Amino acid sequence: MSTLHAGTSSPGTGIFVINKQRILILVSLILTWSFALMLPRYKAPVLEYGKEKYNDYIEHLPAVKVDWHPKYDPKSQFNASKVALMIEARPIPHLVPQILHMISVVPPDWRFMFIGSNKSVISVSRSFATQYQEANGKLDLMVLPKPWSIDSKEDVYRLLTDLRFYDEFLPEVEWLLKFESDSIMCARSDDSLNDWLHYSWAGAPRSATDRFAGNGGLSLRRMTAVRQILNFQARYNDTEPEDEWFGKRLTVLPGAKVASGAQEDHFSVEGVWHDKPMGYHVQADLAEDVWKDPRRRKGNFEYCPELAMIMDMKLERERCEGDNKEGEIVGEKKKKPAKI
Ligand SMILES: *[C@@H]1O[C@H](CO)[C@@H](O)[C@H](O)[C@H]1NC(C)=O
Ligand SMILES: *[C@@H]1O[C@H](CO)[C@@H](O)[C@H](O)[C@H]1NC(C)=O
Ligand SMILES: *[C@@H]1O[C@H](CO)[C@@H](O)[C@H](O)[C@H]1NC(C)=O
Repeated sequence: MSTLHAGTSSPGTGIFVINKQRILILVSLILTWSFALMLPRYKAPVLEYGKEKYNDYIEHLPAVKVDWHPKYDPKSQFNASKVALMIEARPIPHLVPQILHMISVVPPDWRFMFIGSNKSVISVSRSFATQYQEANGKLDLMVLPKPWSIDSKEDVYRLLTDLRFYDEFLPEVEWLLKFESDSIMCARSDDSLNDWLHYSWAGAPRSATDRFAGNGGLSLRRMTAVRQILNFQARYNDTEPEDEWFGKRLTVLPGAKVASGAQEDHFSVEGVWHDKPMGYHVQADLAEDVWKDPRRRKGNFEYCPELAMIMDMKLERERCEGDNKEGEIVGEKKKKPAKI
């Protein structure tokens, strides 16, 4: 009996006395600290601005990394054959909200890929929301290695007409939605992008009777058809834009199904107005048929308010006096070009 009492029942012998409570506290402290040491620690990048620091910075991009299940690939929740692609070298301020909006309206089984310059990729990856989409396997941000280049439109045309690009960066893809900084899909559209998968190519018609609704600014392309063409044809450098080049070949490709302007006029609206399209491609030089008439314009914005995200706009009260809302000043003889 006396030995049992030796440690626990002698009062007043100071802090070195070992009892159950103290052992528990010690053990829990050791556990807490060893857990803390095991956790990955986040080191904030040192932000130093200036051109020469950019390259350094891109390697220290803060990124959300969720590694609780190292064997689970978050990309596997999406369909690898469907990718929405944006190529943009300029760090335009609306890229982040636009990409997030597109992620919310494109059917959930699609993945997204953003190909940019160092600057535009940094500007997109600074947002916590895009970091989350990256960690979740939904979005890839990429700067193409040399000798690929996206500095000019011609560079991008060359890229998109080069089979090696698809083999290297989009090997598993069958459906490619290409969108640009001036295109948007509307949340209120009754169409789903997945309703259009049987087309080899669908885009915006250039005229009401266009045989090929193929404008590439917001377009769905099937890689089978694209590869078929690139396997036996090559685009000459510094010639027509890639969408026109593909269009000429797709319309005569046996078995290819292209949307024509007359039947399938509401995939995307660009130069020819249509009620409730799935999306818009808005070029800087606004198309009169779509944007000149003030009621039609109002209707477009009511149907697709997210257009405001990608368009340069002024407030109504900033209008000039006598402005007839169609780009002309009433009373002035000379007709001004349509600017809305
Ligand atoms: C972009 O960053 C990479 C890696 O930091 C660097 O090698 C490359 O030269 C940069 N490109 C440009 C155009 O600055
Ligand atoms: C991907 O989508 C296509 C077209 O909707 C479908 O046929 C295919 O089965 C899907 N793949 C997977 C792995 O779900
Ligand atoms: C077209 O330009 C690429 C570089 O982007 C070059 O490698 C290729 O040789 C050029 N093709 C012709 C036919 O000049």
